[in-house]
Amino acid sequence: MTDARVEEPRPDPATGPGEAELAEAGLRLDVDGAIATVTLNRPERRNAMTFATWRGLARIGESLPEGVRVVVVRGEGPSFSAGIDLGMFSGGAGSAFPDGSDAAASDRFIAELQAGYTWLRRPEIVSIAAVHGHAIGGGFQLALACDIRVIADDTRFCMKEPALGLVPDLTGTKPLVEIVGVNRALELCLTARTVLADEAARLGLAEHVVPRETLDTTVAEIAAAVLAVNPGAAAATKRLLLAAPGNTLDEQCAAERHEQIGRLREFFGAAKA
Ligand code: CAA
Repeated sequence: MTDARVEEPRPDPATGPGEAELAEAGLRLDVDGAIATVTLNRPERRNAMTFATWRGLARIGESLPEGVRVVVVRGEGPSFSAGIDLGMFSGGAGSAFPDGSDAAASDRFIAELQAGYTWLRRPEIVSIAAVHGHAIGGGFQLALACDIRVIADDTRFCMKEPALGLVPDLTGTKPLVEIVGVNRALELCLTARTVLADEAARLGLAEHVVPRETLDTTVAEIAAAVLAVNPGAAAATKRLLLAAPGNTLDEQCAAERHEQIGRLREFFGAAKA
């Protein structure tokens, strides 16, 4: 297999994915006012993900209605997600892996899939992962891409990629290290062991652990609390918090001043000098 690929016509970002595209991606999208719920929807395959899933997530992100402020990511059936569809390694489930021979083409290919995850960090939205059952590999990384993880007490996280000869490449290594530290991240990835809900909470991998039957109501309560916050203040605060780990104290102080000036202008209706 080579990396020479025919450029396919790109779907228009302004129009969201249609029902057929979502079905092929194994996704469902429900928008209710300011809350969008993205459901991984291949329960018979434990919500295993294909390239179409990751591209579908990216399409949802780029066409999200403007008024949406909370995005909930959840899984249908017994598990959040069993990660990559293993059928793709044997040529099934829409697989066409780049073989890496053309580094630039492979880089573009993976970047396109990562776009399915990165939009969940946008300051204008708060993303909440509602996790239950297994969250393996790409599924674990999807939970890590969200701002808040609410997990059921039956959750089982596992970073399986290295055990399959791969690396976690769906944006998960940064949040994992930021949350648990390099050494714990290394231990989790290189043993591919399963982290149960209690340990996940201890490690900071979950903001809330709740009984399975109250997962949806807890998520709804958190979404309502988020929506009660001024949208401009919420976006500015998320920008600040996301920038904090990479900033020096001086840089972060400057960022706080900058964001607060924006808030003050909105508060007092002042024009930019
Ligand atoms: N890909 C394709 N099919 C999968 C799947 C996967 N990742 N995980 C589960 N399925 C299928 C099973 O083959 C099974 O199909 P049949 O009914 O046709 O036999 C069905 O889903 C139900 O699965 P199980 O009977 O195994 O369900 P379970 O509840 O007993 O176990 C499980 C669930 C622990 C998730 C187990 O299915 C499992 O270990 N799956 C594989 C997980 C895995 O290794 N994923 C790869 C992660 S690495 C990654 O994700 C890389 C990346 O992003 C780049």
